[in-house]
Amino acid sequence: CGIVGYVGSNLAYPILIDGLKKLEYRGYDSAGVALHTGESLEVYKKEGKVSALEESVYGKNIQATVGIGHTRWATHGEPSDRNAHPHYSRSGNLAMIHNGIIENYAQLKSELVQKGYTFKSDTDSEVLLNFIEDIKINNDCSLEEAVRVALKRVVGAYVILLLDKDLPDTIIAARKGSPLVIGIGDRAHYLGSDASPMLAYTKEVVYINDYELAIVRPDELILKNLGNERITPFVQKLDMELAAIEKGGFDHFMLKEIFEQPQTIFDSLRGRLDAVQQTITLSGVEKIADKLLAADRIIIVACGTSWHAGLLAEYVIEELCRINVEVEYASEFRYRNPIITDKDVIIAVSQSGETADTLVAIENAKKQGATIFGIVNVVGSSIARLSDAGAYTHAGPEIGVASTKAFTAQLAVLYLVALKVARIKGTIEDTLYDRLSADLAKVPEYVQQILDKQDMIIRAVAAKYSDARDFLYLGRGYNFPIALEGALKLKEISYIHAEGYPAAEMKHGPIALVDENLPVVFVATKDSYHEKIVSNIQEIKARKGKVIAVVSEGDSVVTDLADDVMTVPQIHEIIAPLLSVIPLQLLSYYIGVNRGLDVDKPRNLAKSVTVE
Ligand code: G6P
Repeated sequence: CGIVGYVGSNLAYPILIDGLKKLEYRGYDSAGVALHTGESLEVYKKEGKVSALEESVYGKNIQATVGIGHTRWATHGEPSDRNAHPHYSRSGNLAMIHNGIIENYAQLKSELVQKGYTFKSDTDSEVLLNFIEDIKINNDCSLEEAVRVALKRVVGAYVILLLDKDLPDTIIAARKGSPLVIGIGDRAHYLGSDASPMLAYTKEVVYINDYELAIVRPDELILKNLGNERITPFVQKLDMELAAIEKGGFDHFMLKEIFEQPQTIFDSLRGRLDAVQQTITLSGVEKIADKLLAADRIIIVACGTSWHAGLLAEYVIEELCRINVEVEYASEFRYRNPIITDKDVIIAVSQSGETADTLVAIENAKKQGATIFGIVNVVGSSIARLSDAGAYTHAGPEIGVASTKAFTAQLAVLYLVALKVARIKGTIEDTLYDRLSADLAKVPEYVQQILDKQDMIIRAVAAKYSDARDFLYLGRGYNFPIALEGALKLKEISYIHAEGYPAAEMKHGPIALVDENLPVVFVATKDSYHEKIVSNIQEIKARKGKVIAVVSEGDSVVTDLADDVMTVPQIHEIIAPLLSVIPLQLLSYYIGVNRGLDVDKPRNLAKSVTVE
């Protein structure tokens, strides 16, 4: 979910709507705002995207300079007007929005039901709000005090923003586990799940920490802990530009972000890889060099696309650094009582730095003594702050829900980490080190070539296969994680069922699906497995499957065999995945567009999953 808030002297509503649109990538099942008009609290909410909310508010009273807003990714309760945020408290004197999950809501709800409370929605949020109001009424205390008392009982993750009818110029906010940023304006404050809603107004922000409570007025920001002690806000300067979160002439953010990759990959290498001197500077790795040298193994934890980056890193780090690597789905890792010691180094890979499962997984591992290295895109995010050391990916804000430029930036950084550690450990030959660093430095230029030369070709391939019902993606070795990522991208954007598989393993199941209607995408760039994958292609052709292949320039063997090819420049096989993923991103994008879908906001997905 995404949350916004505004207190100041301008009309709050347009600022909130604009902010919600910037946060829509976090969820878009429903949207709503609560406005304090000075006399009353008005709540407007609607199932669907922010544009549906805007239409429904047309003609209503929006005369308010204080308000909060929410765009929802449903957890408790189906997407509907009723379950949309904000919620009113029973008396109607409070309105609240919430992002996160209240795990003990059933207990709190039954206590309230016993006291005669009834609920209008199925959400845990409405329970929390009434729990707060109940404390406020019974203790005859301020809202701030009631929030503090209530939150001591709450189990779960949350960020909440509250309006009180009796406090016409105040927003009360609190967080634990879900992000909250407060921007400082001119006699105004802006609240958001991230800094994007406030970029147009201010560059000065305060990142709120867990268990902190904020009392926000136009000219005052008071921060307290749950023990009611004041905390001095730490004001940071944003180095993000507004243009970074706008479409800049592209039809979709996803396409813009795919085309930004020559720059973003360059940015993740910049200042780190010196291709002339063949040196790599990564202060995060240097900081924990002792731990890395002594580590029995590295465990990579991540979710979704970031997990695919982690999987590739396993291949690369084991090859170059000769350290055992395990790659774990954060959601599984956190619950299966893993064996962790202080000799373990955990690499957390996350675009948002807020994914709840990844965050808690590393919190647990840290408690058991492991050292945490974060590879995160969003500066100042929770995972970044929890890490002992790390390296930002520097891909800039990624708005398209399906990750593209953040993935390639993660790969770029993981390559740097692997090369750096291999150098420190002395497990890499100079010639290989020089070759890989030189090839890595060429990647931005090569990605640009793919975008320039292949875009039209891939559009045509997409047009041919947009009506397919299923897709299979196959790859071997370093390209296996790319097959998984290609399949995930297609699934997310086009709603076509797609499976990624190791090319040889295909014989043990998926081959049963092959007929003349099944497109099979082979990630088949020139590498040490090339002859093997050519055999796999032949196995598919023999069963009349349609073969689409990502090939290296000059590969006539696969080009002759395949029905369609997408070509990438020849590069060392370890680095090749950074190129072979690009055509697959474009393929899924154009198929999604051909099917008339909203590729930036695929149904049911959210960019930043702050619930487990
Ligand atoms: C969501 C997004 C994916 C992303 C995953 C992990 O599912 O839709 O694109 O890969 O979360 O997110 P993270 O921010 O931790 O990389």
